[in-house]
Amino acid sequence: MNAYQKLSAEFYDIDKPTAQPEALEFYLDYARRSVGPILEPMCGTGRFLLPMLAAGLDIEGVDLSDEMLSLCRARGRALGLSPVLHTQSLTALSLARRFGLVFIPSSSFCLLTDESVVEASLEKLRDAMLPGATFVVEVERLVPRPSETSGTWGGRWVERPDGAKILISWLPQYSSVEGIGRSIHRYELVKDGRLLESEYEEFALKFYEPAAFQALLERAGFADVRVFKPYEATSPDDSDEGLIFEARRR
Ligand SMILES: C[S@@+](CC[C@H](N)C(=O)[O-])C[C@H]1O[C@@H](n2cnc3c(N)ncnc32)[C@H](O)[C@@H]1O
Repeated sequence: MNAYQKLSAEFYDIDKPTAQPEALEFYLDYARRSVGPILEPMCGTGRFLLPMLAAGLDIEGVDLSDEMLSLCRARGRALGLSPVLHTQSLTALSLARRFGLVFIPSSSFCLLTDESVVEASLEKLRDAMLPGATFVVEVERLVPRPSETSGTWGGRWVERPDGAKILISWLPQYSSVEGIGRSIHRYELVKDGRLLESEYEEFALKFYEPAAFQALLERAGFADVRVFKPYEATSPDDSDEGLIFEARRR
């Protein structure tokens, strides 16, 4: 994966320093009820993991990006916390413990776009769970939209404490056949009108029909699948772009 490298991770950390309060509360509720330790795969900079650790919960994180995990450790140090973090890909997940709750917020799971990778990742996650454990995962809903092979560049920037700016520019495409949105991201570090660094990222998100994602979960060995509206214990309606799936490891 060539995503969430140096400038991308720094941009993310400045742009999204904390989780949405209602999202954090939603996952905290699961975490407090967990029978057994908690795992947050794709934990990134720890927007969910660190507040849970601060609340005294037994949680570990996994992420493929060393840059995101270093920022998580730095945020942890500032709070007097030492999170247990593993640099691993979901397809090669190998952890000493098994978990009572595994949760993946923010539709991070949609970053996996290859079907065989999605299936292998779900199987690895299942194997990392205790029998009867809960899996909660947020995905983006597939909504009908035309395929685009030429999008328009968009962009914005964030400012670092030293006054330098990190610009992101993106050029999107959408494949309706695959239900995948792809973007080329260009990050540029600019200070005093001079370009200091740049970085390219190939970004993709897979969108799901609710029934198709439920079938994937069931094929991977999960049961009692339920789907919720983001951060509420009610069923989603057609206007919801995000879907939260809860399932139990058989
Ligand atoms: C959008 S960030 C979200 C992080 C966190 N869930 C949050 O809400 O702040 C997605 C994270 O998924 C990680 N990631 C992407 N593909 C992965 C994979 N195959 N295995 C493990 N982590 C992965 C990235 O490195 C990145 O840190």
